[in-house]
Amino acid sequence: MVPTSRTIVYTSTHHGNTRQVAEVMAPVLDASTLEPGVEAEEAVRGSSLVGFGSGIFFGAHHRSMLEFANALHQGHGAAAFLFSTSGTGYRLPRLIGIDYHRKLRRILRRKGYTIVGEFHCKGFDTYGPWGRLGGVSKGHPNEFDLARAREFARRLLSGA
Ligand SMILES: Cc1cc2nc3c(=O)[nH]c(=O)nc-3n(C[C@H](O)[C@H](O)[C@H](O)COP(=O)(O)O)c2cc1C
Repeated sequence: MVPTSRTIVYTSTHHGNTRQVAEVMAPVLDASTLEPGVEAEEAVRGSSLVGFGSGIFFGAHHRSMLEFANALHQGHGAAAFLFSTSGTGYRLPRLIGIDYHRKLRRILRRKGYTIVGEFHCKGFDTYGPWGRLGGVSKGHPNEFDLARAREFARRLLSGA
């Protein structure tokens, strides 16, 4: 049977930032949203397109997302996309050679998934000293970020 459904697997533990992104992408893609677990694993198996997303924790996707991806069956070329939210945003760390998506991308490629897109935006961060200073990236994801997320999802559908 050829898989036809679409699934977004996400975890959003810090402020629900990544959940907001998953929730605006889902209707555009007509995708179900699930947290890592048995149900998600089964849904991924029957999907032609899968999104994997979380906040960034110490330079990579959330551990539960990495573990989930690591435990997945082989993707046999199924299409996957990555997304994340983080306090700094993606661009600044990238400039100094830090790639927040690297770990998850590597795992998924090793599992035989074809990465068809990646999305990132800032997310409110109150970890450690930032929290005492009122947090960074307050208000993110904002309307503009979420509009970009919808547009990203539309482009995925059109294959652009
Ligand atoms: C323990 C911890 C570690 C974090 N590490 C990073 C990091 O390395 N880089 C970054 O930009 N943001 C970091 N953040 C901020 C989160 O990535 C950001 O707030 C994200 O939007 C959280 O997503 P969520 O609300 O969906 O869980 C960290 C936050 C916490 C609580």
